Amino acid sequence: MQLPDLNLARRRTREEVKKIDYKLDSKYKNIGKGKTYFVKTYGCQMNEHDSENIEGLLESVGFTKNNEMEDADIIILNTCSIRENAHNKAFGMLGRIKHLKEKRKDLIVALCGCMAQEEVVVNEILKKHKHVNFVFGTHNLYDLPRLISESTKKTNVCVYSMEGELVENLPVKRVNNFKAYVNIIYGCDKFCTYCIVPYTRGKQRSRKMKDILHEVNELKELGYQEVTLLGQNVNAYGKDLDEGYDLSDLLVEVANTKIPRVRFITSHPWDFTDKMVEVIKNYPNIMPYVHLPLQSGSDRILKLMGRRYTSEEYKTLFNKLKQIPNIAITTDIIVGFPGETEEDFNETLNMVNYCKYDSAFTFIYSPRVGTPAAKLYESDNTSLEVKEERLYKLNDLINSYSLANNQKYLGKIEKVLVEGLSSKEGEVFGYTETNKLVNFKGDSSLIGKIVNVKILDAKSFSLDGELVE
Ligand code: SAH
Ligand code: SF4
Ligand code: F3S
Repeated sequence: MQLPDLNLARRRTREEVKKIDYKLDSKYKNIGKGKTYFVKTYGCQMNEHDSENIEGLLESVGFTKNNEMEDADIIILNTCSIRENAHNKAFGMLGRIKHLKEKRKDLIVALCGCMAQEEVVVNEILKKHKHVNFVFGTHNLYDLPRLISESTKKTNVCVYSMEGELVENLPVKRVNNFKAYVNIIYGCDKFCTYCIVPYTRGKQRSRKMKDILHEVNELKELGYQEVTLLGQNVNAYGKDLDEGYDLSDLLVEVANTKIPRVRFITSHPWDFTDKMVEVIKNYPNIMPYVHLPLQSGSDRILKLMGRRYTSEEYKTLFNKLKQIPNIAITTDIIVGFPGETEEDFNETLNMVNYCKYDSAFTFIYSPRVGTPAAKLYESDNTSLEVKEERLYKLNDLINSYSLANNQKYLGKIEKVLVEGLSSKEGEVFGYTETNKLVNFKGDSSLIGKIVNVKILDAKSFSLDGELVE
């Protein structure tokens, strides 16, 4: 048993992070032979990519994928802690799985991901969800084969609160064969006061540039059209290494592999340099799309959030990015942070009116145990009703700008990477360079290709078009 510990998770050391190459212990080689797995993923792209590694690990020991949870021999929930509803969904699922387990005693149930790193969650599992065979964390995905082979009826917890080595060469089973996620930096050292991520994902650790380039080159050889460089704060890439390179240098090298599309998420305004803006502007295969979380338009709230920029500084950066031709900029906004007044909220609306975002993810503040803002929340006297009203008002404004921005595409011809069949019969969907969703008539032979599409109709959340030569 190794339980998560919030005080350890908060700690940051200057010790160098060692790198190890994963190698499967041959004694686990056949533990999944003849058995099937089902992995359910919650949360962000980093979790989605972790699940690709989890599936890779499972297949490396003989398991095969099962699309029906009900029939699988092992079920793994890869969870997210970012807000209360993410928590509730995972616990709801554990309830459903309990019924399955009552019928099939040999079913193996495991929980991993960010929730596994939380003391409160693990305590609740040990008390109320005894049907879980084992819990593992974000720092030890590679332990999965061992944990499966050692799994017993009694819940085993193996969670490291402090990040260990950086593990390269984990097996991976990618969802797509035309677009791929590539981790460039793990963890986060920003400690925004509302956020649980620095506790669940540990210290900021960059991968070496040569390892990243090796992965991208391999993907390109395999015919991949797009890579998305991943991190909680990709703009901090390289800061923890003593190699003298940063995100702008990495972007140049990745662009030089000539992979058709390079994306990166997520950016923090604090670490965004002019050189990075220049590089995005100068390389046609770096997509003109930046997700630049604002969180709040009120300087008072930004300070309480620990975001390290003012609304003016944000605007300055925003205007620099806007110099990049055709760029789309999206954002994240939290309403109802503890103590947010009507005036603070109006400043957020003012910022949205200024930036006219292409789109935004908006959230009501959700207290996370152990974070500084959760203490402020105890004396917060704004009702949920008021917060919901703010959210609706904000969403209406955001949607009106999304529509106006999308309408600018009418009549234009856009390059679209086709990703799959639309829910509408006879149509496919894909994304423009600026990450706009487009639906148009076509068949599965287009999937994975970059094609020209003329935009004929614009809605708030998508575009409609037709294939052109
Ligand atoms: N690393 C990224 C985003 C991480 S989480 C960044 O810094 O921008 C994605 C979004 O979830 C955040 O941008 C924030 O808007 C939201 N979020 C994080 N913690 C939250 C909380 N406690 N309550 C509500 N929203 C939250
Ligand atoms: Fe959370 Fe802030 Fe880090 Fe983003 S930058 S993951 S919001 S602490
Ligand atoms: Fe959720 Fe963890 Fe991602 S908390 S948003 S899965 S880093």
